[in-house]
Amino acid sequence: MKHLLDTTTLDREQAVRLLDTAAEFSGVANRSMPKLPTLRGVTMVNLFFEDSTRTRLSFEAAAKRLSADVMTFQVQGSSVSKGESLKDTAQTVEAMGADIIVMRHPASGAAHRLAHSGWVEASIVNAGDGTHQHPTQALLDAATLRHRLTQDSRGGDLSGLHVAIVGDIAHSRVARSNVSLLTTLGARVSVVGPAELMPTGVEDWPVEVRSDLDSVIEDAPDALMMLRIQRERIKGEHQPASGDYVRNYCLTTERADRLPSHSLVMHPGPMNRGVEIASDVADSPRSVVLEQVRQGVAVRMAVLFNLWGGEK
Ligand code: CP
Repeated sequence: MKHLLDTTTLDREQAVRLLDTAAEFSGVANRSMPKLPTLRGVTMVNLFFEDSTRTRLSFEAAAKRLSADVMTFQVQGSSVSKGESLKDTAQTVEAMGADIIVMRHPASGAAHRLAHSGWVEASIVNAGDGTHQHPTQALLDAATLRHRLTQDSRGGDLSGLHVAIVGDIAHSRVARSNVSLLTTLGARVSVVGPAELMPTGVEDWPVEVRSDLDSVIEDAPDALMMLRIQRERIKGEHQPASGDYVRNYCLTTERADRLPSHSLVMHPGPMNRGVEIASDVADSPRSVVLEQVRQGVAVRMAVLFNLWGGEK
């Protein structure tokens, strides 16, 4: 694998291999010396044109656990403010030795553009491009589902699990990445939200489209993945009124209590407590929000290993 740009191009075998590798790497964090020499001599650059807490830090942690050198670029304070282009910025970091560029960008398709432009030789990892894709988020979500719901009984097989993704589907790269990866892995996926937060063409996705969260909860999903409304991406469009949204789509304690005992509550973060998820639910035993973060480091180790070390 030269690049990781989206989950639509991962077949089941590739996805399972990445998840199996992540499961092996997840033990590294518990060692007295949580480091492997695997990527010694490799340089990874975080090229972030949008804000991030989890993705940027966990790529950094993953690279360091594999002994890679890490450089971090954030658009704030960079020469992008002086008009420097993506091409010139990417070529500049490659000239400093970047072997792997992990890029987050507000434009959908930016990672594909960088990977296929011929501007740089480095491997490209998409860390989120506009509303399009965020493949390592979907992989860490699948790793969490495997770890919590399938290890004992199913050997990591997600076939037949029902995952409901709730909220702003239209503007969510997390939803798009999860729909393609989870369905490739055999899960049943529902997308749930008000009509104004559903994307054009959603009826062609391999999912059930639902608007009534309470009826979805009656169906006893194995996991609910709660998403925030991405107000920063909703410009000049109708925005749902906060009161109506909270009333109809917030995962309250009352709603969570109607889920089966094994059902997980997930959220990619950042959470807006009291909007899409009640604070008590976010902190409850069925919430795996912090486990998702932990799995993120192992999954990103697996991706970096696969891009570079795995093939050599
Ligand atoms: N889930 C996620 O991408 O979080 P960050 O924006 O903090 O990286």
